[in-house]
Amino acid sequence: MTLHGALIAGTGSFLPERKLTNIDLEKMVDTSDEWIVQRTGIRERRIASPGESSASMAVIAAQRALESSGTRPEEIDLILCATITPDMPTPSNACLIQHALGCRRGIGAMDLNAACSGFVYALVTATNFIKTGSAKTVLVIGAETLSRITDYTDRSTCILFGDGAGAVVLKQTTDLGAGVQAFELGADGSGAMLLHVPAGGSRHPADPESVGAKLHTLKMSGRDVFKFAVAQMAESIEKAMNACKLTPDQIKLVIPHQSNARIIDSAATKIGLTADRMFINIDRYGNTSAASVAIALDEAIRAGRCGRGDWVVIIGIGGGLTWATVTVKL
Ligand code: UT7
Repeated sequence: MTLHGALIAGTGSFLPERKLTNIDLEKMVDTSDEWIVQRTGIRERRIASPGESSASMAVIAAQRALESSGTRPEEIDLILCATITPDMPTPSNACLIQHALGCRRGIGAMDLNAACSGFVYALVTATNFIKTGSAKTVLVIGAETLSRITDYTDRSTCILFGDGAGAVVLKQTTDLGAGVQAFELGADGSGAMLLHVPAGGSRHPADPESVGAKLHTLKMSGRDVFKFAVAQMAESIEKAMNACKLTPDQIKLVIPHQSNARIIDSAATKIGLTADRMFINIDRYGNTSAASVAIALDEAIRAGRCGRGDWVVIIGIGGGLTWATVTVKL
């Protein structure tokens, strides 16, 4: 079998207009701007308007990625949308996106749920379709409307989450030295309940009691997830560098999942990467789960923080528990 390269040909993102600041949250729960900034690095997050949804935001992010890569919707061979907040349990967001973009009938379209690691899981899946020649052009999206599954009376979670979408167009290249060079996928289901939404699935379908008890919102054992994420982020970045025999000074930028600035800082210190090589936008958007890394990658490229020929490590970590890394030569 001839193997092909998988190149990040273009990126795009979309954030809703409305901002929810720490000062706003001070009026909603017993918290303070100072506590939130110190413990998380977050200052504000974006909240979707009633007319917006994960799929509608994904469509705009995808259009921007198509434009930046010079790709027409008809060229897309496969659509992967990572999300834990699809518009509906079925159909998939990917099918809604396919139709809205005007992609060809008959291409593959599916959603993928790996929580905050979802976009990187999808990027790895897309890479393998391209490497084996099963697809030439894949649209990979991370989109979330976490505000719709957040309990705004729970101060331990509502300060964290936000809405948004990011997308990448991955294209086949004959240059095996360009694009995705290594990846890792990981999961540890023993920690499944550390971050979960108790109801709304087949185990506990929606009923008036579950709605009243807010069982359709995210519940998190923050301290346990924090400990896991701190250790896993450092280990995953190290593995990602080793897989391509890279030293820290060869890495132009790490695009980490934006869950907590302290998690990112601690991983950087452990590995010996200077703070300027860890991309952070959590101060403006909070944690947008599967959208986080996709938005961050788009912003980093558009801001000139990384570009063609640079080594970049992209890392997702989160519920499941899950983690995923991609080492890419842009
Ligand atoms: O994206 C998926 C992965 N998610 C993550 O990686 C999130 C990981 N977890 C975290 O980022 C942190 O655990 C949090 C930011 C959620 C919490 O920070 P922490 O430093 O772990 O705080 P804690 O849960 O240990 O709580 C410390 C104190 C507690 O008070 P007591 O028991 O010490 O009196 C909490 O009740 O802070 C209190 N607290 C708050 N105080 C003011 C918890 N939330 C708040 C709040 N405002 N919003």
